[in-house]
Amino acid sequence: MSTIQQLLKKSTLDKVDAKALLAHLINKHLNWPKSAMISRDTDQLPQPLLEEWVALEKLRAEGHPVAYLIGKKEFFNIELKVAPGVLIPRPETELLVELVIDFVQASGKKLSKILDLGTGSGAIGLALAKNLPNSQVTCVDISAEALKIAQENARLLNLNSVKFIQSNWFDDLATALPVEEYPFDVIVSNPPYIRHDDIHLSQGDLRFEPVSALTDDHDGLMAYRSIFKEAATFLNTDGLILVEHGFDQSKEVCELLQEQNYINIKAHQDLAGIWRAASANRAASVKLG
Ligand SMILES: C[S@@+](CC[C@H](N)C(=O)[O-])C[C@H]1O[C@@H](n2cnc3c(N)ncnc32)[C@H](O)[C@@H]1O
Repeated sequence: MSTIQQLLKKSTLDKVDAKALLAHLINKHLNWPKSAMISRDTDQLPQPLLEEWVALEKLRAEGHPVAYLIGKKEFFNIELKVAPGVLIPRPETELLVELVIDFVQASGKKLSKILDLGTGSGAIGLALAKNLPNSQVTCVDISAEALKIAQENARLLNLNSVKFIQSNWFDDLATALPVEEYPFDVIVSNPPYIRHDDIHLSQGDLRFEPVSALTDDHDGLMAYRSIFKEAATFLNTDGLILVEHGFDQSKEVCELLQEQNYINIKAHQDLAGIWRAASANRAASVKLG
């Protein structure tokens, strides 16, 4: 027999990780809220919980991400189901959600059409749908496994009007969407941007995440080249294109936007002061496809 206090004291895991795993287990096995981690920390825990704790503690020690072990991750103001088929949403990606909300609110439009390219768990698209009730959100991913999880998240969050399309970026969009559902007011994306030879791919949580969500198997800029080339034909003249990029890619990503004749190109810093995103508008001269 053991208590929360005893398990935490004995565990060699990082304390934050150990607490997250235990909070998950007391909720799953005993339906206790997170506050019980303090209020009931000397209560004896049941055997099935202790057995699962041993298993989870071992997996975490081997490096498995906490979010996959507990099957969920908080992002912006929503909770998302996550599994090894999708990237674990990162706090820095919340910057994209904030920038889109600001843009849509400032536009004063009655209905804003938003496209989330490479939706993964649905993080960006679903956070936007939740916080912008006057929006119509479409989420695209090439991965059927990711789309299944994103759709499940939409259902759990009661965001039933969000559309999901399996496509290689824009390839199948025009055939899958009725014409009245685009051009979009916002195209937002957090694409795979890690270089194929980046050492981080074989370290930490990244070892357990889908490779196709992390890297383009090239120089880290391939997704931007494809997306920027085609996005103009799916974007309203006054619309916004916004992408996340790596900590050292701001210059290259802004240059790629420039090469494709986007205007009002801006670089954005995240809360840590890292240049983390780039945005632009579509030049009026680009013809809609
Ligand atoms: C970095 S993850 C971002 C996931 C999610 N948007 C987030 O921010 O947590 C990139 C996503 O892009 C998807 N993806 C990769 N290549 C793609 C392509 N050619 N077309 C559409 N989606 C693609 C991956 O499957 C993955 O879900």
